[in-house]
Amino acid sequence: MLTIKNLSFSYGSIQTLNSVDMEMETGQVTCILGRNGVGKTTLLKNIMGILDPLPGSSIQMDGIQLISMAPHRRAKSGLGYVPQGRQIFPRITVEENLKVALQGRRDGSRIIPEYVYELFPVLKEMGGRMGGDLSGGQQQQLAIARALCGDPGILVLDEPTEGIQPNIIQQIGEILRELVEERGMTVVLVEQYLDFVKEFGHNFYVMNRGRVVAEGETSELSDDIISKHLSV
Ligand SMILES: Nc1ncnc2c1ncn2[C@@H]1O[C@H](COP(=O)(O)OP(=O)(O)OP(=O)(O)O)[C@@H](O)[C@H]1O
Ligand SMILES: [Mg+2]
Repeated sequence: MLTIKNLSFSYGSIQTLNSVDMEMETGQVTCILGRNGVGKTTLLKNIMGILDPLPGSSIQMDGIQLISMAPHRRAKSGLGYVPQGRQIFPRITVEENLKVALQGRRDGSRIIPEYVYELFPVLKEMGGRMGGDLSGGQQQQLAIARALCGDPGILVLDEPTEGIQPNIIQQIGEILRELVEERGMTVVLVEQYLDFVKEFGHNFYVMNRGRVVAEGETSELSDDIISKHLSV
C-alpha cells in the first residue's frame, strides 16, 4: 500500500502539488485523473524520487518512508515505473532494454522472467530489434515489460494508453487486471481515457491545479465530476 500525506511540490516558485493526500490500496488499480497540466506526472515523479517534495510531505510504502530515499533504492524496494511517453532506450535491443531493468531486482536474478514474455510474446519475437524501431504500441508494451523485469510490488504507469490503438489498449488493460488478480500487484495509473478507467480501475482520485478535488470508486465516477473536472 502507498500512503501519501500532505504532499506538496514546487518547480521554483510555482507550486504544482498542494497538500495531496492519497491511499493506493494493495491489489487494486488506483487511477489518477485530471486535465492536462494539473500535476499528475509531477505527482508520479515525486513518488518515484525523481523530484523532491517540499518539507512536511510524506510518501510511505507499506509503512516505509520513501521521502529522501534515492530513486534506485525505491525501485529496489518494489516500485516499478512506466513513464509518460514510454522512454524506452531506442539504441539498444528490446532484450537489452529488459535486461537493464533486472538490475533493480530485489532477488538479484539476472534472467528475464518467462511470464513477462508470456504477457508480451511480441517482445520475444522482436528481442533483437532496436527499441527505437518498434511501433508506438510495441514500445509501450516494452516499457511495461521493462518495469515488470524489476519485479515490482507496486506498478506506477503514466498514461499507458496515450497514442495507442484500441486493440493494444484493451490488451494492456487485461494485462493490468491479470497482474492485480493473479500476482496481487498494486497499480497506480495516471489515465485520461475514462472508459479504460471504468473498465480496469477500482478507485480514483481527480486532481485539479495540484489538489485532489474528488475521489471514490470508479463505479461512482459521475457525470458531474466528469463535466466539472475532466471534460475539455
Ligand atoms: N520541469 C518543469 N519546470 C517547470 N514547470 C513544470 C515542469 N514540468 C512541468 N511543469 C509544470 O507543472 C504543471 C504540472 O505538470 P505535469 O506534467 O505534472 O502535468 P500533467 O497533469 O501530467 O499533464 P499532462 O496530462 O499534460 O501529462 C504544468 O503547469 C507544467 O507546465
Ligand atoms: Mg503528465
